[in-house]
Amino acid sequence: MKLTAEQLQQFDELGYVMLQDVFDPVEVGVLQEELPRIYAMDRPEVWRESTGVVRTAFAAHRYSKPFDCIGAHPRLIGPVQQLLDGDVYIHQYKINAKAAFDGDVWQWHQDYGTWARDDLMPEPRAMNIALFIDDVTEFNGPLWVIPGSHKQGVLEAGHDLATTSYPLWTLDKASITELANEHGMFSAKGKAGSVLMFHSNLVHASSPNIGPWGRTIVYLSLCHVDNHIRQFKREEWIAHRDFTPITPLDDACLRDLARERAAAE
Ligand code: SIN
Ligand code: MN
Repeated sequence: MKLTAEQLQQFDELGYVMLQDVFDPVEVGVLQEELPRIYAMDRPEVWRESTGVVRTAFAAHRYSKPFDCIGAHPRLIGPVQQLLDGDVYIHQYKINAKAAFDGDVWQWHQDYGTWARDDLMPEPRAMNIALFIDDVTEFNGPLWVIPGSHKQGVLEAGHDLATTSYPLWTLDKASITELANEHGMFSAKGKAGSVLMFHSNLVHASSPNIGPWGRTIVYLSLCHVDNHIRQFKREEWIAHRDFTPITPLDDACLRDLARERAAAE
């Protein structure tokens, strides 16, 4: 899959592109079915909120076949290779659960702010591609982004080790107020199977989920192979050290899994 000239222009101007219906319900169904198994796992990669519900399952491509397929899916990898102009590797892989009632906040941040400071990634030649595993609505903690904020470079940030279970370099209230007053905000909503691509310097956040519907989003953070991280301070399943270029799988990989699973029943 390739982005059109119009989508490339939007990415450049706003720092994100939203793509609807990239995966169909059969494909998304394979991923949805796999989630309870992952969320029940007791392993260091599966992080929980203070209430015990899963916040993030890191590096799930290493312990789940359907999610491994997503980590090398041509519909996700192709547009990122196009935008970053070459081979990419997986810097970080997250399944973010944002559970009903208990899914907690993600404070305002730029991803590259953390990748530069903690991992010494040389340049923002890396980005996120996010796949919605559930419908994302105004009621279940959608991602908020500040359009155009990727053009600000790396903004001053403080290391937040306290407000959530995941350490992050976060922006202060005055900076967010100024940026949002100037650029407004976009709330990334869409049906399960939709995709949001965004620049690694785009300012974003999400509120706690006080609604009765969870929303799982998978984030692939992909980096150009020449731009790999230089410092290995964080766990290797948070900031990966395997810089092997991704070889995209067959476009039918999730459908094949769906067929295999149906045949086994
Ligand atoms: C992130 O910023 O990495 C995740 C935010 C979210 O899932 O709401
Ligand atoms: Mn982020």
